[in-house]
Amino acid sequence: MKQTFEFLCRFPEWLASDQTLLILDEDAEGLVNLAGNFDVMALHQHNHEHAKQLGRTSYFSFDIRQTYQRIIIDWPKAKRLGELLVAFAGSLLAPDGELLVIGSNKGGIKSVAKRLKESELSADKLESANHCSLLRIDGTHGEFNLDDWWQSWSIDSLRISTLPGVFSANKLDKGTSLLLASLPTLAGDVMDFGCGCGVIGLSVAKQSPDANLTLVDNSLMAVLSARRNAEQNELSNITIVARNGLRNHPKARFRHIVTNPPFHEGLRTNIDMSKAFLSDMAKLMHLKGQLWAVANEFLAYEETLNHYFKMVKPIARESGFKILHAQAPYIQK
Ligand SMILES: C[S@@+](CC[C@H](N)C(=O)[O-])C[C@H]1O[C@@H](n2cnc3c(N)ncnc32)[C@H](O)[C@@H]1O
Repeated sequence: MKQTFEFLCRFPEWLASDQTLLILDEDAEGLVNLAGNFDVMALHQHNHEHAKQLGRTSYFSFDIRQTYQRIIIDWPKAKRLGELLVAFAGSLLAPDGELLVIGSNKGGIKSVAKRLKESELSADKLESANHCSLLRIDGTHGEFNLDDWWQSWSIDSLRISTLPGVFSANKLDKGTSLLLASLPTLAGDVMDFGCGCGVIGLSVAKQSPDANLTLVDNSLMAVLSARRNAEQNELSNITIVARNGLRNHPKARFRHIVTNPPFHEGLRTNIDMSKAFLSDMAKLMHLKGQLWAVANEFLAYEETLNHYFKMVKPIARESGFKILHAQAPYIQK
């Protein structure tokens, strides 16, 4: 269980109440298993699915139409996202409700008071132990409007908007840029796995109006951003799917998969997870399918790719990134 949630076990009466909402960041597995009647707002599909399986009321959306007596935010690694969640939670609080934030020193909990000062909110420490703290947020909350939180940038003729917490929130990532520069024109069914704001998939869709794009991401903020970007760039050959990994992806035969695959889960690096994604991608591909992946130089994906594809080669290297091109997946049972 995530260390910070050990705090919550000290307050069973909070969790027992159906008037409590927990807002969960990525690596909050286990928390949803705690006994209690609390509701969940999950920022990631895997926590949302897990909460629903346990019969909890869980939201993977900002469309929450009830107020809560107590809201507890798991402070996310992206600080601006933390500020957004505090503003959103403020709009859901009952008039005498209580807003709490939990987090670890490593996750930046010590900077919360400073970050919220600008919004004229105070953050007082209620508990701390094991390098973690529980804070109570007081002050007057303003109106919340998700439209106030977008940032935008452009690449070629594409306008890209992002919500806080999305990868490459205010500019194109160097690795993604190298991948885009290395791609030929693609046709047929194409997947962008771990699409973030959708910049790779959108660029392919724009360049190849005949391609059918499927963009997949686990994160609510990414999926909302990719949807807005498909709409504002008037691209209709795109389907955006909120999904945790590819294990449960419906059977399909993609001609191409393009990806800047994740290798972090919350604050932790997890290379085995990325390798498992590459193997799952191979299973979803056409027999003559091609995979285009960007990776940091230090990530040894070649061995994994050689295991699942007949031909694998690096096709570009720059600024600590490499582009791996893999073709013709072996049939996997
Ligand atoms: C390195 S970022 C790439 C984002 C985007 N493609 C780009 O290049 O700007 C990896 C993305 O994978 C997503 N991701 C992480 N774990 C995932 C999972 N289990 N299933 C689907 N997507 C996941 C993250 O939310 C993130 O948007």
